[in-house]
Amino acid sequence: MENIIICRCSDLSLKDIRDLIEDGYTTVEEIKRISRAGMGSCQGRTCSQLIMREIAKITGKNISEQKDSVTRPPTIGIKLKTIADGSEDND
Ligand code: FES
Repeated sequence: MENIIICRCSDLSLKDIRDLIEDGYTTVEEIKRISRAGMGSCQGRTCSQLIMREIAKITGKNISEQKDSVTRPPTIGIKLKTIADGSEDND
């Protein structure tokens, strides 16, 4: 059961998350910073709620009392040619 993947973007299992909580990382933000959970391409849409649930189970903190991690929108990819060519603004 502990091999269940919680964060598929960062390849973190339920065991990984439980170990971090037991090591004292008891907020989504702390777990994110130590493990990169929530920093993948989905920006934690899949894993944040699951991590909050595990924190609630282990620490007794109610999910509604927990803060979700800060999410940042993914940057927009640009072509290397655009960078190499530069722009008129940088001249
Ligand atoms: S599943 Fe965790 S960041 Fe995508």
